[in-house]
Amino acid sequence: MNLIEWATSPWGQQVPIHIAWSLLWVSAIAGVGFLIVHAIYVKFMAKPVAHSAGASSVDISRIPEKVQRHSFGARFFHAIMALSMLALLFTAFLPKVGVQFAWVEWHWIAGIVLTISVLYHIIHASFVLDFWSIWPDQQDRIDARNRIKLALGQSAPEPKKFAKYPLENKLYHLIVMLAGLSAIGTGLFMMKRVRTPFFTRNPYLFSDMTWGWMYVLHGLAGVGFVALVTVHIYFAIRPEKLFITKSMIFGSISRENYLEHHDPQRWVVGAEGPASGRPESKKAPA
Ligand code: HEM
Repeated sequence: MNLIEWATSPWGQQVPIHIAWSLLWVSAIAGVGFLIVHAIYVKFMAKPVAHSAGASSVDISRIPEKVQRHSFGARFFHAIMALSMLALLFTAFLPKVGVQFAWVEWHWIAGIVLTISVLYHIIHASFVLDFWSIWPDQQDRIDARNRIKLALGQSAPEPKKFAKYPLENKLYHLIVMLAGLSAIGTGLFMMKRVRTPFFTRNPYLFSDMTWGWMYVLHGLAGVGFVALVTVHIYFAIRPEKLFITKSMIFGSISRENYLEHHDPQRWVVGAEGPASGRPESKKAPA
């Protein structure tokens, strides 16, 4: 199977022009395949995970009834990003499956909205939120190793409950960040090849070879998002994750959910107001 479509440049050079669009189906099937396998695993095979007692030394009365998880700014960013991402996916891929319309203008407009929302998110996360709460830490690595050992039937200490974000969410964020920055970085340059009100079109900015690889990277990140978004929506509607999804709409989780899923020593909140995922930090909720 050819993963890239090639063409011959006016100078007789073989240059890539974009990815093979059959990769769209590979990504869609991978996304749907993952969720089918995961749903079967959870229903029939997964054993309940035991955790080491994290809440034992915590004064539960100081934990508010509603624990703030996402500030308004973070929820607003998520909504704008989700809408622009869906618009980008539909405008990019509907024409590839036979629904023809003038997609390019809608596509780059959605791209600009995504770019601005991501810039806002980077500034917000760096200066207002707890920047480190979304990156895997030492405890995540230790617990991941222990979880694998226990799943293989070996002896290992029980893992701790998660901090503010489970390791899976942190890894997902990392992959989405890499794919998102690739799509945005290439997309902004690709705007030079189409007519926009911002600058004069200049398809000669780069060589055919450079443009070709740029389109390939943009396409790879784009089809990658088909699987990533499918999996994200699947987890958002799983019954045991609905409390997280609701917190992305209403901002908070209940005290019960907080104590059941999070280690109060790793995500410190208090009656005086929520703190971040790290005990030493006193920043606002992400
Ligand atoms: C993150 C989600 C995105 C997806 C799924 C996506 C998908 C795609 C796809 C599949 C193409 C066709 C590429 C080809 O023909 O080889 C494309 C083209 C394009 N995209 Fe995106 N893209 C995304 C983000 C962006 C962003 C953020 C921007 C701008 C800031 C952007 C601007 C463009 C432009 C200008 C084109 C070129 C159209 C042309 O040359 O005809 N895209 N996109």
